[in-house]
Amino acid sequence: MIVSDWREAGDGLAEAYRVEARRARSLLHWNTDANWRIVETARAHGHLPGRVVRDIDGHWHGWTFFLLHDGALQIGAFSTDSEAATDALVRDLLRSPEASRASRVTLFGFVSAPGLAGRLRTEGFTVEPHLYLTTRLDQAGGSVQGLDAWTPETTADVAELLSAAYPGSDPMRPFASEGRMEEWRDYVRALIEAGGCGTFMPEASLAISSAVGQLDGVAIITRLDADTAHLAQMAIRPSAQRRGVGQRLLAAAMGLARARQCERMTLLVNAGNCPARALYDRMGFTSRAEFLSAARINRVA
Ligand SMILES: CC(C)(COP(=O)(O)OP(=O)(O)OC[C@H]1O[C@@H](n2cnc3c(N)ncnc32)[C@H](O)[C@@H]1OP(=O)(O)O)[C@@H](O)C(=O)NCCC(=O)NCCS
Repeated sequence: MIVSDWREAGDGLAEAYRVEARRARSLLHWNTDANWRIVETARAHGHLPGRVVRDIDGHWHGWTFFLLHDGALQIGAFSTDSEAATDALVRDLLRSPEASRASRVTLFGFVSAPGLAGRLRTEGFTVEPHLYLTTRLDQAGGSVQGLDAWTPETTADVAELLSAAYPGSDPMRPFASEGRMEEWRDYVRALIEAGGCGTFMPEASLAISSAVGQLDGVAIITRLDADTAHLAQMAIRPSAQRRGVGQRLLAAAMGLARARQCERMTLLVNAGNCPARALYDRMGFTSRAEFLSAARINRVA
C-alpha cells in the first residue's frame, strides 16, 4: 500500500465524494452535497491535509482528511475498502506533522472502514459508539403552549444552558470536550450559523424558560434534506429534568417539523446516554446506523 498527500491526488476524489454522499443520503437521509463541495474547495486550495492510499498498480483503496483546530486533530472522513488500507492510512495519519503537534486526536462520524475501531484501540484511542436514530412524523404533534419560539436571545443564552446540562469536561464528548464557555459558544455558532449539522430550522426549534426568565431547555432542529428534520441538540437544565419538559419540547418540535413538510426526524445519541435513550425510545425513535466516536489524548512533547 502506498500512501500519498491527497492535495496532489485530485483524480478519483469526485467519485469518492459521490460514494460518501450516496451512502449518507440512502442510509441517513442526509444530503451532504454542499459539505463535499466545501471540503473539495479547501483541499484544492491546499488548506485541508489528507491522504489517499493506493496499491502498487495505482488503484484506490481509501482516503482520509483531517484538520488541526485549537490544538486538536479532527479526522473529518475516513474511508477504506480493506483492513490493510485502514492500517496503512491510520499509521500514516498518526505520523503526520499535524498529529505530532496535536494534544488530542478525535474522530466522529459515520465510518465503516474495515477494522478501524480495533486499529484505533490498539493505538490508544477510546472508542464509543453513537446511535443514529430515526422516526416517522406522520402522527407527530404536541402542544406548544408554555414553550417559547426560537429568538436571537435564545441563541445568545444557549451556550450557558448547554454548559449546565453537560457539566465539566469529557474527552469523549464530540463537542466542547473541555467544557470551556468559549468552546460551547463555538459549538452553538457551528450548529446555528455554520450549518455544521444540517441547516438550522428556527421555525421548528423551541425553548422553555423558568418563572424568572432563565433558559431551562432547548430542542434545536435542523434540516438534513427536504423531507428530513434532525434533532441536532436537546438539553434540559439539571434542576428542571425529569419533569416531562424534554418530552414536551420534543413532541412539539416534531409537530412543527411535520408542519414544515418533514416526513421523519433523526438524531444522534451516545449509546451510553441512558436518560436520552429512554426518552427517544418512548417517542418512537429506532436505530438506523452506528457512528464511531474515538479520541486519544497525545503525550505533550
Ligand atoms: C435527556 C434529557 C434531555 C431528558 O430531559 P427530561 O426533561 O429530564 O426528560 P423527561 O422528564 O421529559 O422524561 C421523559 C421520559 O424519558 C425517560 N427519562 C428521562 N430522564 C431519564 C433518566 N434520568 N433515567 C431514566 N429515564 C429517563 C423516562 O422514560 C421519562 O419518562 P418518566 O419520567 O415518565 O419515566 C435530559 O436528561 C438532559 O438534558 N440531559 C443532558 C443533555 C443530553 O444528554 N441531551 C441529549 C443529547 S442526545
